[in-house]
Amino acid sequence: MRVLGIETSCDETGVAVYDTARPGADGLRAHAVYSQVALHAEYGGVVPELASRDHVRKLLPLVRQTLAEAGLSVRDLDGVAYTAGPGLVGALLVGAGVARALAWALEVPAIGVHHMEGHLLAPMLEDPELAPPFVALLVSGGHTQLVAVDGIGRYRLLGETLDDAAGEAFDKTAKLLGLPYPGGPHLAALAEQGRPGTFRFARPMTDRPGLDFSFSGLKTQVLLAWQKSDQGQATRADLARGFEDAVVDTLAIKCERALEAAGCDTLVIAGGVGANKRLRARLQAMAQARGGRVRFPRPALCTDNGAMIAFAGALRLQAGQHDDTAIRVTSRWDMAALPAVSG
Ligand code: KG4
Ligand code: ZN
Repeated sequence: MRVLGIETSCDETGVAVYDTARPGADGLRAHAVYSQVALHAEYGGVVPELASRDHVRKLLPLVRQTLAEAGLSVRDLDGVAYTAGPGLVGALLVGAGVARALAWALEVPAIGVHHMEGHLLAPMLEDPELAPPFVALLVSGGHTQLVAVDGIGRYRLLGETLDDAAGEAFDKTAKLLGLPYPGGPHLAALAEQGRPGTFRFARPMTDRPGLDFSFSGLKTQVLLAWQKSDQGQATRADLARGFEDAVVDTLAIKCERALEAAGCDTLVIAGGVGANKRLRARLQAMAQARGGRVRFPRPALCTDNGAMIAFAGALRLQAGQHDDTAIRVTSRWDMAALPAVSG
């Protein structure tokens, strides 16, 4: 089954074709992402109305480009998957509208995919051996969650952030250090030049039991340290390193606890912050020390993309699930409410 995947939940337009007849990463016939970073940079954050308008401009050319790269025509598609939430409603409607119209014209089924399920299943796209049960750490700009994955579509929330998401903490801290939007990758690059241990920030909520997170206090700690410092370039890098180490440590401590709580030895990381090199190395070391394993998508499939939507949609379409012709999107969506995929 050849499934077109469309992602427009925020500030990247992502399109991909996934073919279930080919196992694992070979199934990904083509994928392309157009990032709106340059468009939103001057505002220091995503402007929803501009995001929607840009998806309108970019989506159809990107669909054409992706099909051409896959060597396929639109008639070769057997299904269409699109992100139906959570995300910016106007942006989601662009992808949902195009996906629904295409599916209607081609007389193929279409399905609305949960963006975080897309992230969560992305490591399975790359590794056909990987199957539930596992524990997933979802770390993006909008979410920080630990999820027990009992099966595809069977998700139990183990813990989540009580305030800022990990990516949001990266972005806000980067902003106050004067780094360009989106801050996460810039802060990570700056941290490479910083000296570890020069600044030591708290590992929030690790001193008590539980699997929830709280990252909003960290940026304040960094701000206070910055205000008291010489505000030189070396100090900025040291602060970035101190912040990154605090986030990475906190995530690793909670991941280890979650594996223990779930009685599981496989950890899966997904979402934009999963592209962070230090986080990847730290979780790898933690999993190895426990005799378990950790799986990450390649960095390009950690951040928003159409491949994860094509893949997650294909699994559901293959199982016979699809939506009716109404165009429905939602800014909030509880993953635990998703139907299970049997088999
Ligand atoms: O999953 P994603 O692309 O979009 C959302 O669904 O939110 O995640 C974007 C988030 C942003 O906060 C970005 O700063 C962060 O992921 N991010 C990183 C890195 N690359 C992206 N944070 C830390 N280190 C990175 N290398
Ligand atoms: Zn995302």
